[in-house]
Amino acid sequence: MLCMKIYFRFFALGLMCIFQSAAANTSIKHFSDTIYTYQKKSYDGIGKYYLGREISYVMGAAGSDWLERDTRQEEENTKLAIQKMNLPKNAVVADIGAGTGYYSFKIAAKIPKGKVYAVDVQDELLYFLAQKKQAIRDTVVSVIKGSEKSPNLPANSIDLAIMVDVYHELEYPHEMLQSLKTALKKDGKILLIEYRGEDPTIPIKALHKTTVEQLKKELGANGFELSYRGDFLPIQHFLLFGKK
Ligand SMILES: C[S@@+](CC[C@H](N)C(=O)[O-])C[C@H]1O[C@@H](n2cnc3c(N)ncnc32)[C@H](O)[C@@H]1O
Repeated sequence: MLCMKIYFRFFALGLMCIFQSAAANTSIKHFSDTIYTYQKKSYDGIGKYYLGREISYVMGAAGSDWLERDTRQEEENTKLAIQKMNLPKNAVVADIGAGTGYYSFKIAAKIPKGKVYAVDVQDELLYFLAQKKQAIRDTVVSVIKGSEKSPNLPANSIDLAIMVDVYHELEYPHEMLQSLKTALKKDGKILLIEYRGEDPTIPIKALHKTTVEQLKKELGANGFELSYRGDFLPIQHFLLFGKK
């Protein structure tokens, strides 16, 4: 029954994706620049490749209900993911691609003396985040408008930058990782929570899943190394990267 529910939700997301990608991709380039290559796009991708991986389209604000769905805890065990972050009460966390703040506000509740930067690029989602902050009288979360290339965070300020179901859709992964390197403290870490690309039974479209091998390649090319791999989540990787 749970499996059927998950399939139904991902089918609905799939329809949304097709709609998004058709709207977003108006020009196809067939060339390489120094960092990316460009080819004909697949139906859930943007036709732009980074180190052999096609980047997926960005999920639109229309997907907000899906991010906040009641079954998410059961499907993804988000409480365990937050518990495994092992955050001290005064941690400074950046939730890059925060969406509706599903993670941001839950993390904020755990670190009353800390700070959470909830960063997104979509105005509708930034508005949603600001409204939610006001509604629950939160004092820990700061809502930040990022750009495709930078989260616009202060240098040397972040203990943990998380990207939950975000990394595969960054249009400029190289530039984002370089910006994050500057924003992280010396021992700061990046946490990637991504659907497992190695497992064909996980009912998520191919470009929305990633493999550990590919992520190590991409993060490695930007000066990060895998410091911890957690295999405890039902359908996602939990990968911590630190500066080399
Ligand atoms: C699938 S949603 C995940 C939202 C949230 N992390 C969660 O798990 O509930 C992906 C989010 O990443 C955001 N995003 C995509 N590219 C981004 C970028 N370069 N900087 C910040 N956010 C970005 C999108 O706007 C969207 O809100």
